[in-house]
Amino acid sequence: MLRLVSRRVAVAGRKDGSWQKRVKFSTAVRSGRLEGKVALVTGGASGLGKATALEFIQEGASVVLADVNAQLGRQAAQQLGPKAEFVECDVTVEPQVAEAVDFAVVRHGRLDIMHNSAGIAGPPTATDVARLDLASFDLVMGVNVRGTLAGVKHAARVMSPAGAGSIICVSSISGLMGGLGTHPYAISKFAVAGMVRSLAGDLCRRGVRINCISPFVTLTPLVVDQFTQLYGDVGRQRMEQIVDSVSELRGARSEEMDVAKAAVYLASDESKYVSGHNLVVDGGFTSYKHLNLPMPEGINP
Ligand SMILES: NC(=O)c1ccc[n+]([C@@H]2O[C@H](COP(=O)([O-])OP(=O)(O)OC[C@H]3O[C@@H](n4cnc5c(N)ncnc54)[C@H](O)[C@@H]3O)[C@@H](O)[C@H]2O)c1
Repeated sequence: MLRLVSRRVAVAGRKDGSWQKRVKFSTAVRSGRLEGKVALVTGGASGLGKATALEFIQEGASVVLADVNAQLGRQAAQQLGPKAEFVECDVTVEPQVAEAVDFAVVRHGRLDIMHNSAGIAGPPTATDVARLDLASFDLVMGVNVRGTLAGVKHAARVMSPAGAGSIICVSSISGLMGGLGTHPYAISKFAVAGMVRSLAGDLCRRGVRINCISPFVTLTPLVVDQFTQLYGDVGRQRMEQIVDSVSELRGARSEEMDVAKAAVYLASDESKYVSGHNLVVDGGFTSYKHLNLPMPEGINP
């Protein structure tokens, strides 16, 4: 997923210690923005999916976690309490996705929110197209693109008759600009963002909304694993410094909760007229590039 470039990044914390002043979001205030709603979260056993499930529950939803990692999934459901249930599901196997959707509907009578967070990074070394391993490309595309599409398809199957629902897909900053991820990962995330655009019209006509979230690098198990492959076991604090050193927004760090809260907005009725949107949660990272023109005194006539 992550892509190293020849430019060396500073891994020390910012000199002014600004990353330490990051905003702490309160989880205490809750207004029931998802009261009574039913959500299915793929990839819900870990990272961004699990954080989103927690946020959904705290906003009043019942959540079914669907994940290929049964041990982690059961553990997560237990941690999240009585409003969470787990169903084992490999998103690359369509009947299992269909079963997970049906499980939620049988259990709760309907499905209001489908959050497709299941994803894999692939090897961090896949940056040379001339040596690309197409088998590992297929693997990444199978989970990230086909798996997401299966989630959308089966959510649409049960949401269409109800004429309502919110589907959320997870892309990445790697799906917005070239050069930020390995080729398989970046291509898969461009495809997820494109999928949302491609399907929005079809789903709009059924009363179903579909949107995308594109997060910045966030220290989930997926990223910790990638960093460990690249840097060795350098420890959590060092990894946080690495993330801070590549971030653009001073004084804030990308956290799981940032994505989870974006998902609450897209899942809730507050976004009732928002569809086909890509909600970028990257602290401004992909919104600009500096034009590094030489200073006038550096130009020799
Ligand atoms: N963490 C980041 O920096 C970041 C940034 C941008 C986008 N994303 C995307 O966010 C999503 C969640 O990633 P994360 O960082 O929380 O990673 P994570 O590894 O913590 O969680 C991913 C979950 O998906 C599950 N999963 C993997 N393959 C699956 C399959 N075939 N079927 C069902 N479940 C499967 C895993 O078991 C895991 O529980 C991914 O789509 C990822 O590409 C992450």
